[in-house]
Amino acid sequence: MKLLVTGNTGYIGPLVLRHMQRALPGISIVGYDNGYFAHCLTGAPRLPETRLQTQHWGDVRDFPGELFDGVDAVIHLAAVSNDPMGSRFEKVTEAINFASSKAIAQKALEHGVKRFVFASSCSMYGYAEGGPRKESDALNPLTAYSRSKVATEQALAEMADSGMVITALRFSTACGWSDRIRLDLVLNDFVACAIASKEITVLSDGSPWRPLIDVKDMARSMEWALTRDPQEGGNYLAINVGSQEWNYQVRDLADAVARAVPGTRVSINKDAPPDKRSYRVDFSLYKQLAPRHQPQISLDQAISEIKTGLESMLFKDADFRASQFMRLKVIEKHIEEQRLTEQLRWI
Ligand SMILES: NC(=O)c1ccc[n+]([C@@H]2O[C@H](COP(=O)([O-])OP(=O)(O)OC[C@H]3O[C@@H](n4cnc5c(N)ncnc54)[C@H](O)[C@@H]3O)[C@@H](O)[C@H]2O)c1
Repeated sequence: MKLLVTGNTGYIGPLVLRHMQRALPGISIVGYDNGYFAHCLTGAPRLPETRLQTQHWGDVRDFPGELFDGVDAVIHLAAVSNDPMGSRFEKVTEAINFASSKAIAQKALEHGVKRFVFASSCSMYGYAEGGPRKESDALNPLTAYSRSKVATEQALAEMADSGMVITALRFSTACGWSDRIRLDLVLNDFVACAIASKEITVLSDGSPWRPLIDVKDMARSMEWALTRDPQEGGNYLAINVGSQEWNYQVRDLADAVARAVPGTRVSINKDAPPDKRSYRVDFSLYKQLAPRHQPQISLDQAISEIKTGLESMLFKDADFRASQFMRLKVIEKHIEEQRLTEQLRWI
């Protein structure tokens, strides 16, 4: 199988490459990324992209369709990948996340690609009171980022009869260790707080529900999407990816980290306004359709791997929320130092 992965030089990409090479022997992988975070390596013993057959550097807004020649499958990760960046670069987020994703899927189809896997997000359920959200429930995207994911899913759904097997994986919030760790994710942030200052400051009142998934289990689900039988789930499928047990309240995550890093205090902001991003998610469809690709990493294991990784980097920056471990800060620094334009084009 020849696989093209867009957005492969970010947080999740390196895990995807490694997983596919282990799980699908003989696979040939090509990367395509414009490298906003390619320099943000965190203790990697080897540049992850040296595992690839070819690495292309380019913008998804100018994606050359001929790169799909001979390609069997695409995993489309490239995106402005969180809410803070989405709200700072709203129009650009729409162009990169929605317009380019739609155009790339169309080009893939024209070039005979058979499988298309899209990294979508459970954040499209927004603030959802009541029971865990199923795929058929109403969506409530509250941010530019989650609106871009909804719009892309709609465009992909219109290609349902095209012959290409399309899977939109609605991921829970990611966590876990990577060759390019980021600390703007709730669990990673808590472990970093615990290590750097022995104090976890929860910015909300701790009550919001947040489904989580380890990056290794995300890669496992992408393997499933590349190989799933379209007789089950159909040619186009949007599916929640995670597990029931990983629906946590934020304060439970903080407590689990405090147990793993002895001496850590947890401070909850009791006066915080209600966090609008609170939702539980129902993963029973994923359990039914992907019984052999269910998440395997436990919360304690994920915490332990982040802790070990940060300790091996001698991490101790208590001010890391203003540092280069935050995607938005990396982008802002590129702009400030005139490497990137406001349109997120390289100068
Ligand atoms: N991290 C999460 O919690 C999470 C959860 C659900 C879904 N996702 C989705 O998974 C995907 C990967 O997430 P990640 O955490 O690795 O994000 P990331 O920001 O670390 O990586 C995204 C990659 O996309 C590239 N990219 C962005 N704009 C581009 C452009 N215009 N042209 C070419 N490349 C571009 C970046 O350079 C980067 O390498 C994203 O689509 C994200 O929305 C992430």
